[in-house]
Amino acid sequence: MFPSTNPTTTKAWQQLQQHAASMKQVHMRQLFAEDAQRFEKFSLRFEDILFDYSKNLITEETRTKLLELARECQVEAAIKAMFGAEKINATEGRAVLHTALRNTSNKPVMLDGQNVMDDVNKVLQKMEHYCQQIHSGAQKGYTGKPIRYIVNIGIGGSDLGPVMVTEALKPYWVKGIQPYFVSNVDGTHIAETLKKVTPEETLFLVASKTFTTQETMTNANTAREWFLQHAKDEKHIALHFAALSTNEKAVKAFGIDPVNMFEFWDWVGGRYSLWSAIGLSIALTIGFGNFKALLEGAHAVDEHFTTTPFEKNIPAIMALVGLWYGNFFDADSEAILPYDQYMHRFAAYFQQGNMESNGKYVDRNGQPVPYQTGPIVWGEPGTNGQHAFYQLIHQGTKLIPCDFIAPAISHNPLSDHHVKLLSNFFAQTEALMNGKTAEEVKAELEKSGMSGDALAKLLPYKVFTGNRPSNSFLVKEITPRSLGSLIALYEHKIFVQGVIWNIYTFDQWGVELGKQLANKILPELQSNDTVTGHDSSTNGLINAWKKMKA
Ligand code: F6P
Repeated sequence: MFPSTNPTTTKAWQQLQQHAASMKQVHMRQLFAEDAQRFEKFSLRFEDILFDYSKNLITEETRTKLLELARECQVEAAIKAMFGAEKINATEGRAVLHTALRNTSNKPVMLDGQNVMDDVNKVLQKMEHYCQQIHSGAQKGYTGKPIRYIVNIGIGGSDLGPVMVTEALKPYWVKGIQPYFVSNVDGTHIAETLKKVTPEETLFLVASKTFTTQETMTNANTAREWFLQHAKDEKHIALHFAALSTNEKAVKAFGIDPVNMFEFWDWVGGRYSLWSAIGLSIALTIGFGNFKALLEGAHAVDEHFTTTPFEKNIPAIMALVGLWYGNFFDADSEAILPYDQYMHRFAAYFQQGNMESNGKYVDRNGQPVPYQTGPIVWGEPGTNGQHAFYQLIHQGTKLIPCDFIAPAISHNPLSDHHVKLLSNFFAQTEALMNGKTAEEVKAELEKSGMSGDALAKLLPYKVFTGNRPSNSFLVKEITPRSLGSLIALYEHKIFVQGVIWNIYTFDQWGVELGKQLANKILPELQSNDTVTGHDSSTNGLINAWKKMKA
């Protein structure tokens, strides 16, 4: 049973509203001063990941009420429904089973009377074999040279996951393999990529769930033409093009033999697909063994998520703490700040993961929601962000809950780089929480020799209110397994929030209108006629463009 409760009608919501009013008078500094056990009480461990959520504007009472909200919104039943293959993506009539793709314990997952694990395992075996063939050089390019370049052509979920993971796991790259990712329909993206590769040594992976996405098909056709200009013979396509898709018919029509197609299924959402055949670029880049470890790390979190009581369940707590600020403190956004340069696309990845999932205003009863849903997600790696946008996080007028993520051990232990990086990681959450009082600023300025008017004038600018919330994820090391776990934690956070907000997390109708209009406008751009069928701004822009390019 998949529940559909308006969260604002629950008792817990009402109580949380009252409680939030009193918590707005509280400073976290005070909470830490009053309770020496606060860190122990508000931190959790999962394998090599320490999740500290003590620097949040919450008390045990807050947590109890938030957990009560999860109970009243029947999150537990929703988890059972998802893992039990119910068609919880109701507007598309689909189950949501990305967790089956990483179900490394291989317990049966029954969908419409079939164990989907049979198909999942078949594709995984095919991927493993393909990786072996490419890495061993058994499958060579059309002139007999080994494959050195992997060019993944895809967009959105068929791009961001593979890009993020391959970047995050660069220390694990297979020697001799260089991946590239082409997503944008802007010809610059493929043009610049093709300059870096050779047709004889390149494997193109056309990654598209639907195999109809305009950007991907345009780039794939350009790659195909470029390849054939050099290779001359269509028979060579088999050695240089593979498809990752659910749409065999379209794959065939494009000219890729189904032998070179790696299948996945409609129950895998695009933004949850890195675990599927869409992950082939990952497996080819880091090796199949490491890809498997990524799946195992995610599976371990699935086990944690499905078996751990909510008070110790990391994704549930992440979800509830996020919701606390979004719904009761008017926070609009959340920042994800990895202190790991390799993870530089992690925030971008979860921008799609979160915003395409929970950026919705219609609830599961077809009604507009009278409360806030998905946050704006953004972020950049530390310490770069510190010199760019942290000013606003520390002293701006907006409340921005932050997730700080850092590995304890660096893959590049150069001189004192890592301790310096980590000193910033620890300092930032402390500064955000504590802030700096007027008295502290005064003492500091006096110590530096300032006094009187000059001191009084400068003082207010140097005060930090603090009380700005953050979570810290301290990960022993970014490995395929721990990265898989981290990704799964965030995925389930998004799921829990969507359940409580009573929205459909796994569809994405909001991306359609722009696509539809672009399809209408495209032929208008290709004709010489003056355009009159739109509003005056759109007509004006299109007609101005026609003159400009002439
Ligand atoms: O436009 C949004 C979207 O549908 C995403 O959900 C998806 O990840 C992306 O486009 C790519 O779709 P496909 O894999 O079918 O090419």
